Amino acid sequence: MEYKEEYKRKLTDIEEVLHLIKPGMTVVAGMTPMEPQLFLSQVHKARADDVKIFTCLNMKPYPFFYEETPSSFENNSWFFGHYNREAIKKGILKTHYVPNNLHQAGTDFIQTRKVNMFVGVASPMDKNGFFTLSASVVYEKDILEAADIVVLEVNPNAPKTHGDTSVHIREVDYIVEVDYPLPEIQPSKAGKEERAIARHISELVEDGSTLQLGIGSIPDTVARFLESKRDLGIHTEMLTESMVDLFEKEVITNSKKTLWKGKFVCTFAFGTRKLYDFVNDNPAVMFFRGSYVNDPYVIAQNEKMVSINTALMVDLTGNVCSEGIGKTHYSGTGGQLDTHRGAIMSRGGKGIIALKSTAKGGEISKIVPFLPEGSPVTIPRQDVDYVVTEHGIAHLRGKSVKERALEMINIAHPDFREWLKKEASKLGLL
Ligand code: COA
Repeated sequence: MEYKEEYKRKLTDIEEVLHLIKPGMTVVAGMTPMEPQLFLSQVHKARADDVKIFTCLNMKPYPFFYEETPSSFENNSWFFGHYNREAIKKGILKTHYVPNNLHQAGTDFIQTRKVNMFVGVASPMDKNGFFTLSASVVYEKDILEAADIVVLEVNPNAPKTHGDTSVHIREVDYIVEVDYPLPEIQPSKAGKEERAIARHISELVEDGSTLQLGIGSIPDTVARFLESKRDLGIHTEMLTESMVDLFEKEVITNSKKTLWKGKFVCTFAFGTRKLYDFVNDNPAVMFFRGSYVNDPYVIAQNEKMVSINTALMVDLTGNVCSEGIGKTHYSGTGGQLDTHRGAIMSRGGKGIIALKSTAKGGEISKIVPFLPEGSPVTIPRQDVDYVVTEHGIAHLRGKSVKERALEMINIAHPDFREWLKKEASKLGLL
């Protein structure tokens, strides 16, 4: 009863929240499925200059970074999505990438900056005064604990989740009730290359392995090719719908995991309503902070840990670029290096980078002699393990640059192999 009174006292509207924003403030918003959509769509109306707003993988073209507005707000983003890229293409330079390994995004932030305000999304309060941060605790909980002002958009569509997601009404300063649907991502359509890649990867995944599947169409397709496997487990940054499908088919049981046996472990979930319903009040799905789930030393405690991520290009010696095309920033490191390193440190683990051999309808080889000028290295060659394309598997760990170049040429598209051989010779690799 007491908590209901406190809830009522803290209940407010978005206008009052906008009045809290003062010049020079640093504001952090929850990410992706848990983006505070009402706040982000209105924040450009706040009367304050030089406000920095930190976000991650924005789901909508929010005016504060996507339009020319009178406000001098700046968006700093831990991971670029479509709208960040489009804003930059339009010449609106209000969105800036923050280089990070996902497991350190929140903890680095609170060590180096003061957080004036956190705005997140929560599932409705229970009788004991607890909300949950629902489908993402990548950095949200660390930031919430450090923030001077905590605002929650309370949404009945947000699933109530288990793990380290609870927040008590006492920790919250302002509540705004909302009722928008959560952002959804549909399972991607697989082409013949993706299917060939998935078939190669299924050869590498042994029964009883624990999996991390990254973002993009390839990891999604891989899941569909694992149906003949037994007793797979999940320890992943992002929980996806394909994992729920494999659970329903009794492929994922989590029963052979050597850490958190019997449980799915993730730091956020992103999919369709089916996924959000699956995680709702599901004690078998544990959401923990990104600083825990993606810590390579934690990941490595899962024996036979297999991480499957994808990339934009890989050079002949194994440098992996997943976040930029030359000087143009594309997405972010996210948890790619974290999960890859965790997997290669695990007993019997494998770090897999899977990519189509070409882009732009076969015009460009994604296997390149060297990364073009300005390309960020997401996984350095000294960490690389398996690289898989539709043409096969290259196992680069422990191999010389010559051996690597030969293996990489073998999995390149046949149209580019002669060119790659010549370039490799010019570089002194062969
Ligand atoms: N040169 C030029 N363009 C290229 C290219 C290359 N080598 N490789 C891809 N592209 C283009 C594609 O043609 C496509 O363009 P379009 O949007 O105009 O069609 C675009 O870049 C995206 O490529 P695609 O292969 O469709 O990307 P994806 O959606 O499968 O995502 C990554 C791939 C690598 C961008 C994405 O997985 C990522 O950001 N990874 C880093 C983070 C991560 O892995 N985290 C893991 C834990 S969740």
